[in-house]
Amino acid sequence: MTEAAIQQCLHDLPKCEHHLHIEGSLSPSLLFRLADTNKISLPAIETDPSFASPEALEGRYTRFTSLNDFLHYYYIGMSVLITTADFESLAYEYFARAHNDGVHHAEIFFDPQAHTSRGIAYETVVAGLGMAQKRAEKDFGLTSKLILCFLRHLPASDAKDTYQAAEALGHFSSGVVAGIGLDSSEVGFPPEIFKEVYESASKAGIRRTAHAGEEGDSTYISRALDLCSIERIDHGIRLVDDEALLKRVAKDKTLVTMCPLSNVRLRCVTKVAELPIRKFLTEGVRFSINSDDPAYFGGYILDNYIAVQEAFRLNLKEWKFIADGAIEGSWCDGERKQVLLEKVEQWAESYKGTL
Ligand code: HPA
Ligand code: ZN
Repeated sequence: MTEAAIQQCLHDLPKCEHHLHIEGSLSPSLLFRLADTNKISLPAIETDPSFASPEALEGRYTRFTSLNDFLHYYYIGMSVLITTADFESLAYEYFARAHNDGVHHAEIFFDPQAHTSRGIAYETVVAGLGMAQKRAEKDFGLTSKLILCFLRHLPASDAKDTYQAAEALGHFSSGVVAGIGLDSSEVGFPPEIFKEVYESASKAGIRRTAHAGEEGDSTYISRALDLCSIERIDHGIRLVDDEALLKRVAKDKTLVTMCPLSNVRLRCVTKVAELPIRKFLTEGVRFSINSDDPAYFGGYILDNYIAVQEAFRLNLKEWKFIADGAIEGSWCDGERKQVLLEKVEQWAESYKGTL
């Protein structure tokens, strides 16, 4: 198969995305445009020359030194999002892009505290995202869920207030928000800080995930599983450092949401080939491939699939294992999963004997 044919095959593979921060899909060009429209001042060029132009900013994004270095730009970037329409267009553009990459179901993170702390109401954010979700389902047949993330560098009491605000609006019980997550700076902010809010969510039957084992060691993963009863692991690349834990995750079919291009950009690994993808496949760990913050990390979901293929040369059976696992680990209902599993089956049939 030629490279172009392989890329077409990966394009056609029905995908689910589970690890996408909607604020991380804000491109430098949209960032500058919204800063202008909303009269938001960006850092002065004398302080940070990266803000001279969208191109300069794009260039700076190729030189992140760590997760915290990236987060500095991520929080500045999202400060231009003000109105419901801003959130709606941001999310709709992501859905359109994801649809073009062959995504059928997306479960997207949002960071309410990063907006409420700037005076943007939680309801403004959720209303915009919700409108985009409805349009994407109507226009593209793309189903989606929202995952409310807590910022781990802020106090647990802040996370609790955010949780209660969503709960008071009935957002969990109505399904407007499907689950909770934990993101931002990992090292020094272990999952157990947020044990209480995760316990409340667990009792209420709300879905739970957390970033764990991205920059933090493998105990961040075990502690998130044991103390916060997470049902999914975001990143989880440090699983390879604890054989027993890896076997447990494989046995429990806990989905690991991997983000290859992100891990390279944030220097968790030097190249995609260093990621434990072969090990996960051999041990039967269920994982999905995702873009994390595509506007910051140089690629959307299909770019991540292609990077994995270039590094590991997976065969059709291995790609089917990944695609089936991504569907089974999704938080959509059984009926939707069945539809998606059949799409993957048809894909495998049509590419039989090629990959
Ligand atoms: N890690 C932690 N927090 C984040 C990330 C990430 O990759 N992206 C956006 N917030
Ligand atoms: Zn992430």
